[in-house]
Formats: sequence, C-alpha cells, structure tokens
Amino acid sequence: MMDFLQPIREFLGCATPQAWIDAAIKDIPLLLQDHANCEKKAASTAVNLLFRYNDKQELQECLAQLAREELLHYEQVMEIMTKRGLHYKPITNARYAGSLRKHVRTYEPQHLIDILIIGAFVEARSCERFAAIAPYLDEELKRFYTFLLKSEARHFEYYLDLAERYSPEPILDRIAFFREQEAALISSTDTEMRFHSGIPTI
Ligand SMILES: [Fe+2]
Ligand SMILES: [Fe+2]
Repeated sequence: MMDFLQPIREFLGCATPQAWIDAAIKDIPLLLQDHANCEKKAASTAVNLLFRYNDKQELQECLAQLAREELLHYEQVMEIMTKRGLHYKPITNARYAGSLRKHVRTYEPQHLIDILIIGAFVEARSCERFAAIAPYLDEELKRFYTFLLKSEARHFEYYLDLAERYSPEPILDRIAFFREQEAALISSTDTEMRFHSGIPTI
C-alpha cells in the first residue's frame, strides 16, 4: 500500500466495494466521461469559493492552485478521450455531491466549514477510487490514475486544513457526521454508474 494513502483510508468510513470496481471497468467510456465532469466540477467548486470568500488569504492561495490543477486534469481526461475516439456526451450527475450538500448549514462560518469538509471527502474518495481501480486498467489509464491520486491526496489535505483553520469550534463531530453520510452513499445500491456512485444495480 502506498504510504500517502494511509491517512485517506483512515479518514474515509469505508473502502470502495469490489462490486463498484466490477461495474466501472465494464464501461470505461462512461467512467471517463463522468471523470471529466468531476474534474470540471472540482475546479468550479474551488473558483466559487474564491469569489465568495475574498477576505480569506490562505483559502485564496490553496484553492487558486487547486482550481488550476483540476482544470489541468480536465484537459488531460479530454485528451485521453479524444485519443480513444470518445466524444463528449451529456450524462446526469451522480447523487453523491448533491446528497452530501443537503446537510450543509446555511449560516456562516459553519456554511463554509461544511463545504470544506465535503470537499475533503470528495477529494479523499477520488483518491481512494483511483487507487482501487488502477490495477484493473490498461497501461495508459493506470499511469494516469496513479499520477492523479497523488494530487487528489494533497487536495484532501488542503480542504481539511482550511476547515480546521476557519472553524471557530472543533470539527471532529462534523467530520464524523459527513463520514457516515458519505460511507452510506458509497456502500448502498445506486441506480447509476458514476465515478462517485454507490453499488450500481444496472
Ligand atoms: Fe482532479
Ligand atoms: Fe482534486
């Protein structure tokens, strides 16, 4: 096991089920399309935070870099898709992020803290999933996903550090709450196969 994955596995409430891996490798074009969308959304989330929290210097520095890296990942996924003759196709979002965001508190600074904690879970899960699926992929994707999981591990730390820095109170309880929600979404059955989906029933 790669050392830097240890804190990620400890942070998450469960590992990716084998049934998700089995379903994901059956439709690599779909996986790549959803992955491309995820990278673009990750950039957009970071940019939105940059505009909303102008007064927070450390957030500006971390998330400007993060947004840049996510857009680079987006370009890299698109490049692989183009090389494989896969064209953009519109697909619906996974239930994942929307379900987690339902629990975001509506008042500040708790609103920001919840968004940052969710950001940490999304990045940690992406990282764990890249590692889980990499052994089943062709050489090009295996290399790409192994490269990506290192930056997602750093992004997970950025979000967690920012949540700790800006929270007026300890955040362990809130992390535990989102850990439970996130693990339930990953471990339960899901009607769609997506990068962050539960166990697809189709
Ligand atoms: Fe990324
Ligand atoms: Fe990321």
